[in-house]
Amino acid sequence: MSLLDVTDAAQIYTTRRGLFGRPVKVRAVDGISFSVQPGRTLGVVGESGCGKSTTGRMALGLERPSEGSVTFEGAAMPVPRSAEWRDMRAKMQLVFQDPLGAMDRRLTIAQQIEEPLVIHRIGNAAERKERVAALLVDVGLRPDHAARHPHELSGGQRQRAVLARALATNPKLLVCDEPVSALDVSIQAQVVNMLTDLQVARGIAMVFISHDLKVVRQVSHEVAVMYLGRIVEQGDPEALFADPAHPYTRALVSAIPVPGPRRIPRIVLTGDPPNPADRPSGCAFHTRCPVAIARCKAEVPALRHFDDGRKIACHLADAQTKVAE
Ligand SMILES: Nc1ncnc2c1ncn2[C@@H]1O[C@H](COP(=O)(O)OP(=O)(O)OP(=O)(O)O)[C@@H](O)[C@H]1O
Ligand SMILES: [Mg+2]
Repeated sequence: MSLLDVTDAAQIYTTRRGLFGRPVKVRAVDGISFSVQPGRTLGVVGESGCGKSTTGRMALGLERPSEGSVTFEGAAMPVPRSAEWRDMRAKMQLVFQDPLGAMDRRLTIAQQIEEPLVIHRIGNAAERKERVAALLVDVGLRPDHAARHPHELSGGQRQRAVLARALATNPKLLVCDEPVSALDVSIQAQVVNMLTDLQVARGIAMVFISHDLKVVRQVSHEVAVMYLGRIVEQGDPEALFADPAHPYTRALVSAIPVPGPRRIPRIVLTGDPPNPADRPSGCAFHTRCPVAIARCKAEVPALRHFDDGRKIACHLADAQTKVAE
């Protein structure tokens, strides 16, 4: 059994086009499936608006999928904000990009880290104090950081404090949504290393959302590439980044700056990602795909399993990879 199972999950939002426009339905996530095991990390990549954060919110039970299901430890997610849901929340935490936005400016760092313990009634005051002190050490902060306020820390230190807070209740699942994107590259590496060390030590499962493929490659055991609400390619990060099969993955990977001669010729995607309210027919990527054929416009490609363990949603994938029957 996996810790987290997402099956054919879709999220449909109703929005208005223009000031007096009629409501339109947007399939922000359009039928995705994945599982995450304890101690493992699923990386989720894709352009802005492809549905990464929506996927993360569904995984945490912050939003119920409009279609399909999400189960945690084999049980369906409770109704958001119910008592059962609040209990469950201690087992899963969200870490997102803006640490200052995630913190209460009036509380000290120690108070921020202690807050989830108070909410979930874990330990007495003395035990909580001890736990906060240990968490500070775990995330590489100093004891004197405890009494400071968020604005008195650097960006990297703040992100460490947010992680300490997320880890306070001993969660089994962390959803990290662009957790280091706001940090300097040098600080990013430190925070990412600390995060993966803590994850291994504690056996935490992680969904790691980022548009930074290098970071995703470094932290993930499996990667899912999303395009307009669907997974277009999924598999082992080394194989996927060394030999991307889907034309969209090839374009993303070809854009990673690498020293020395590049193996994959740079593919520049033209045009913006299409609007999910106005999804192109067939394969949603066909409007920007350099190798699209007539079938791509007419028929939605299924996400098929290939014999190297990879999943690819492309009509042309047979030409590149053998299909396992
Ligand atoms: N609450 C909402 N109501 C209506 N539409 C929404 C809502 N939340 C997200 N969307 C739309 O759903 C799509 C997916 O959004 P989402 O935030 O999941 O993308 P993302 O991949 O996280 O993007 P980014 O990289 O910019 O964070 C977008 O088109 C977005 O405009
Ligand atoms: Mg997002």
